Amino acid sequence: DKGEFRHYMMKEIYEQPKVINACLEGRISENKVLTSCFGADSDFLKEVENVHIVACGTSYHAGLVAKYWIEDLAGVPCAVEVASEYRYRNVAVPKNTLFLTLSQSGETADTLAALRKAKEQGYLTTLAICNVPSSTLVRESALTLLTNAGAEIGVASTKAFTTQLTALLITSVAIAVEKGLSAEKESALVQAMRSLPAYVNAALLQDEHIQKVSDRFANKQHALFLGRGAMYPIALEGALKLKEISYIHAEAYPAGELKHGPLALVDENMPIITMVPHNDMLDKLKSNMQEVAARGGELYVFADRSTNLHNEDNIIFTEVPKVEEILEPIVHTIPLQLLSYHVAVVKGTDVDQPRNLAKSVTVE
Ligand code: M6R
Repeated sequence: DKGEFRHYMMKEIYEQPKVINACLEGRISENKVLTSCFGADSDFLKEVENVHIVACGTSYHAGLVAKYWIEDLAGVPCAVEVASEYRYRNVAVPKNTLFLTLSQSGETADTLAALRKAKEQGYLTTLAICNVPSSTLVRESALTLLTNAGAEIGVASTKAFTTQLTALLITSVAIAVEKGLSAEKESALVQAMRSLPAYVNAALLQDEHIQKVSDRFANKQHALFLGRGAMYPIALEGALKLKEISYIHAEAYPAGELKHGPLALVDENMPIITMVPHNDMLDKLKSNMQEVAARGGELYVFADRSTNLHNEDNIIFTEVPKVEEILEPIVHTIPLQLLSYHVAVVKGTDVDQPRNLAKSVTVE
C-alpha cells in the first residue's frame, strides 16, 4: 500500500526516520552500544584484526562508507569488494578477519556465493547485515544484525541503504570500543546516533526545493557527482540512483581526481553535484568547485549553511542540516534520493520498476 504517496520509492524515502529508529532500537543504551545485538557470541569484537566487506550495488556503497568509519574509529584495516569479483579470485585472508556481507534481500546470488566461499577461507566469523530475517544470507551466516527497515518494494534502494549505514555505524563503534575508543567518545557517538531520525526528518524538509531543482535535470544527458572522504561513496550512490531511475548517465569521482581526467568532460552542459562535508576537506572541495565553475559547469551543492556556500553566485544550493561529521554520509543521502526521484518523475520513467532491473538479482 503506497498510502498518500504516488510511488513506493517516495513512501520508503519518507519512512526513513521511523526505520532508522527501529534499527537503533535495542542496540544502543543511553551512552553505549549494546554488543548483545550481535547475539550471544559477540566475542569476535575482541578478536577482530581485519574486516572484509562484500556486497553488490547500493549495499556495496554502504560498505565503502563503513571502511572510513572502521579504519577511523577502530584503526582496524577494512577492505570492501563487490561480490561478483570477490567470488572468482584468490583472496588473501589475514588472521582474525571478520567477513561481513551487506544485503537488503539476503538473496543476491553473488553475495551468497561469496559467503559460501568465505566459509572455506578460515575467517574469524561471518556477519550479515540484512533486511530480511528469513533470507538465505541470514540462515547461512554465523551472526546477523537485522536492519529492520521493513519491506522495500521500490527497486531503487533507499531506506535499506540508510538503515545499513546505521547498522554499520553500530558495528564500527562496537569494534572501536574493543580497540580502546574512550567511553567519552563512545557516548558522544551514541548521542549523535540518537539524533539521526530527527536529522533525517529535517533533511526531508527540502523536498519541495529539490523538486524545483530537479526540473533543470530533465533534459540533461550526463551528470558528475563529486565527494571526498566518506562522502565519496555517497556520491557513488547518488550517481547510481540517478542512472537507475532517471536513465541519465551519471558518474561519481572523489573530487581530488578531477584533474586526473574527468575535468575534460566539464562544460556548460555538465551538471556537477557536490556533497560538501563540514570538515577539514571543505576548503579543498571549494577549490575543486572553482575548477569546475571556471569551465562553465553548472554547480549543484548540497551543504549546511555554516559552509557559507549559499551566498556564492553560480551555485544552486540545497541546504542539508548541520550534523555531527560521522553522520553526514547518512543525512546527505536523503537529498540525493529526492533528487533522483523527482528527476525520474519529470522524465516520466517507471520509478518503482525501472527498465531492465529486478529488485533482487538471484541469478548471476
Ligand atoms: O538485496 P541486495 O542489497 O543484496 O541487492 C544488491 C543490489 O542489487 C541493489 O542494492 C541494487 O543495486 C539496487 N537496485 C540499488 O538501488
